[in-house]
Amino acid sequence: MQCNVDRKLLGLILFFSEHGKTIKSGFLKARNKAGTKNIYGEEQMALDKWADEVLINGLKKTRSVRYIATEEQSDIIEINDPENEYGVVIDPLDGSSLIDVNLAVGTIVGIYPGHVLEPGEKMIAAMYILYGPLTTLTLTTGNGVHDFVMDENGVFFLTAKDIKIPDGRIYAPGALRKDYLPAHARFIESLENEGYKLRFSGSFVADMHQILHKGGIFTYPGSKGKEKGKLRLLFEANPMGKIITDAGGGISNGKIDILSIKPDAIDNITPIYAGGKKEIELIEKIMRKN
Ligand code: F6P
Ligand code: MN
Repeated sequence: MQCNVDRKLLGLILFFSEHGKTIKSGFLKARNKAGTKNIYGEEQMALDKWADEVLINGLKKTRSVRYIATEEQSDIIEINDPENEYGVVIDPLDGSSLIDVNLAVGTIVGIYPGHVLEPGEKMIAAMYILYGPLTTLTLTTGNGVHDFVMDENGVFFLTAKDIKIPDGRIYAPGALRKDYLPAHARFIESLENEGYKLRFSGSFVADMHQILHKGGIFTYPGSKGKEKGKLRLLFEANPMGKIITDAGGGISNGKIDILSIKPDAIDNITPIYAGGKKEIELIEKIMRKN
C-alpha cells in the first residue's frame, strides 16, 4: 500500500488492512448466530464476536494504540504502556446480518490522536474495508480519499486516488416509511420527485461505498419512537462522515454537521444524512423550516 503518512499511523493502517484479510478468511467458517446480544440489543453473529476479538487481541499484542472502543464492547479498553497514544473506534463487522445471504459487509475504523470521546472532526484517519466480490479498502488521512483493491496475493493496490463524490441520483433510506417524521418525509418526497433511485442493502458500509462513487445520499433518520435514529455516532457515523467529507460531501443529523458533535458515551446514536453537499443542504433547509 502506498501513501504519504506518518510512519506510526501507517503501521496502524497496515494493521487493519492485514486483519481485514483475516476477517474475510473467517466468512467460510461461521455464519451462525452467537446466541448473545450487543449493548444495542442486536443479535450478535458468531462472526461479529470473532472479528471483534481478532482486532482487539491484535491491537493488545502490538500495543499500537492506547484506547480501543468497538461496537461490540460496552466499555473503552485502555492498553497499558502502549507504543502510541492513538485511540481507535471500530465497527468490526458492519452489516453482519447479511453474511448468511452473501451480501457485502465491512469493517469500519476511525483513528484519533488520543481519547475517542471527542468530536469526529478530531479524527486523523478513517477507513473501511468492504468485503464484496472484491475486498477493497477506502482510506483518508486528511489528504484525499483513496481506494485500494486486494489482489490474489493479499496485497492492496491503489485503484482510485483523491475520490470526489459525484453529483448523482441514488438514495439509500433506512427506517420504516410509516414512521417517518414530517420533515424527513418531505425530504424523501423531494428526492423521489427528482428521480432518485432507491438503493438500500442493509449494510451501511456497502451503501456508503456506492454513494461515495455514484453520488446521492444515505440516510437513517430519526423516526417515530426512535427519534435518535439507529446508527452509532462513534463507530459508524463519524468514520464514514470523515471519509465522505474529505471526498467533498458531508454528514449531518439533519440540523448540524455530525463531525462537530462531542459524544458523551460510546453508545451514542444519531440520525444520519451522509452524501452529497446538495442533499445535505436540502435536508437542513427543510428541517430549519419545520
Ligand atoms: O450496523 C447497523 C446496520 O446494520 C447498518 O449496517 C445498516 O445500514 C442498518 O443497520 C440497517 O438497519 P435496518 O435493518 O433497520 O434496515
Ligand atoms: Mn454497523
